[in-house]
Amino acid sequence: MSPTPSLKTVLTFSLLSLTAMSGCTDFESSFVYSDRTSALIPEAQDGLDGQPGVKSLLDEKFGTPQDLKAWLKLPVDFGGLSVGIEKVVPGDDGRSEVTFSELEDGSFPATAVSVEIMSGEASGEVLQFASWDADTRTAVLATESTKPLAAGDQCSIDRGQVLKDGRVLYMRHCSHCHGTAGDGKGPTAEYLNPRPRDYRHGIFKFTSTNAESKASRDDIARILKYGIPGTYMPSFLLLKDQELHAIVEYVRFLAMRGEYERKLTVELATDFSTKQVEQQQKDGESRESILSNLKGFLAADMKEQSVALGDELAEQWTASDTEDALIIPKVPRIADSVESRRRGRELYLSKTLNCADCHGVDGAGNGPQTTAFEKNPVTGELYPEAGLHDIWDNSNQPRNLQAGIYRGGRRPIDLFNRIHAGIKGSRMPSFKNTPEEDIWHVVNYILSVPFESEPGATGTPSTAPAAAATAATDSSDAAAK
Ligand code: HEC
Ligand code: HEC
Repeated sequence: MSPTPSLKTVLTFSLLSLTAMSGCTDFESSFVYSDRTSALIPEAQDGLDGQPGVKSLLDEKFGTPQDLKAWLKLPVDFGGLSVGIEKVVPGDDGRSEVTFSELEDGSFPATAVSVEIMSGEASGEVLQFASWDADTRTAVLATESTKPLAAGDQCSIDRGQVLKDGRVLYMRHCSHCHGTAGDGKGPTAEYLNPRPRDYRHGIFKFTSTNAESKASRDDIARILKYGIPGTYMPSFLLLKDQELHAIVEYVRFLAMRGEYERKLTVELATDFSTKQVEQQQKDGESRESILSNLKGFLAADMKEQSVALGDELAEQWTASDTEDALIIPKVPRIADSVESRRRGRELYLSKTLNCADCHGVDGAGNGPQTTAFEKNPVTGELYPEAGLHDIWDNSNQPRNLQAGIYRGGRRPIDLFNRIHAGIKGSRMPSFKNTPEEDIWHVVNYILSVPFESEPGATGTPSTAPAAAATAATDSSDAAAK
């Protein structure tokens, strides 16, 4: 690090390595790389003649679980409070007391454990606190800096702490299902149906944002608080707000890491997968010339792509967290009534919306599309099982609407959002061009389906929700083989 780095020029910084926790098992210690990365020739993975490969770039920008890196370009709250040093007083027992300048806005956190010096002689050093008093803005240092500290030095208190906390909480509560790298393949995952989400596409299903946008922070936090009904995704309502925030940031971090890797390997895989390279060699090309092409690619195209992808991630994840991305109906909810449900059912069956094609005429989740065989859009091969699949290649059947269990929430606005934006990554399409009145009628109909006296008897609710009771377990998904 240069002697006086300005915050803006620091591209990535290494977050303090975590002291090994007792009970660490192997699956915690590294991020797995994607199948596409692993299918590349070793030189494309690890780099060639000083040009970084995919793994080197990923590790440089995101680090490992034990030594996380913060790519400052990304809209992740890594944690850290920028402040200046007001005065340094050498303590009686040789431990310096550092007082920080007052903050213009906001106050100091009640707890703090370290400070990273960003300018001045000791720039780059990370000093641990023996004690911290938020009221007097003073810390007693547990570790002394090797170079002198001075008033006016810029520093960052608890830099990276949010991400580190997020990592610890994630490893404790989530990784056994979602995997260390967020690949959805923790040790428990294979027993679950539906499978835990693989975050690495950067796509979440149940959002309040429009069809084009990613999930907002609030969307991820809501999933954590309430879980996903009808699936093994539990509720974490008991976590403190601060803990939820740290986990949300860590999930976003993993999602961005995964997306970066996916996109960075698209072009690379067309020429430099082991399979491709073997083919090229069979066709008479020498390994030397293939490697020289690779070197050229890594030196120019990959570097450009890496920068562009960072910008793209920053832009999309920032935009999805703004009000512009939210679905805000202009037409207020249309009150539930027999007429509205009837209109909703007509629309549901209509050729324009054609919900029945997937969900079935009576909403049982058994429309014609569930018996047809689909092609895998990547390999072009037919899936072994009938019905629909999501982008994670898992069998993903239309919901049985008679069960009355809604994964993305059961408030009318939740269902409005589901229909408006579709369910991202699944085959449930977006109906954003449908008039909002019509969407509300469909919502009223959907909400009435579990309570119909007989299928299709819209508007004549039975006395007991019989269908809901008998069809309460919705096991329409099956994990892909
Ligand atoms: C017992 C297993 C299990 C645990 C533990 C678990 N999850 Fe999940 N999670 C799931 C399953 C299963 C799904 C997928 C549900 C579906 O596809 O409808 C899921 C889905 C999600 C989603 C996707 C939501 C969306 O809209 O697409 C997020 C985000 C998520 N989990 C975060 C977490 C976090 C963070 C933790 C830890 C605090 C956690 N999960 C713990 C099983 C689990
Ligand atoms: C091409 C097939 C397809 C069509 C057409 C379709 N859906 Fe879906 N729908 C799905 C799939 C698949 C799911 C389950 C996605 C998941 O959770 O992964 C789903 C889920 C749902 C859910 C459950 C939401 C939740 O929170 O659990 C509702 C409600 C729903 N669809 C309503 C509709 C309505 C209303 C229409 C017509 C306006 C419609 N769907 C059209 C495939 C379809």
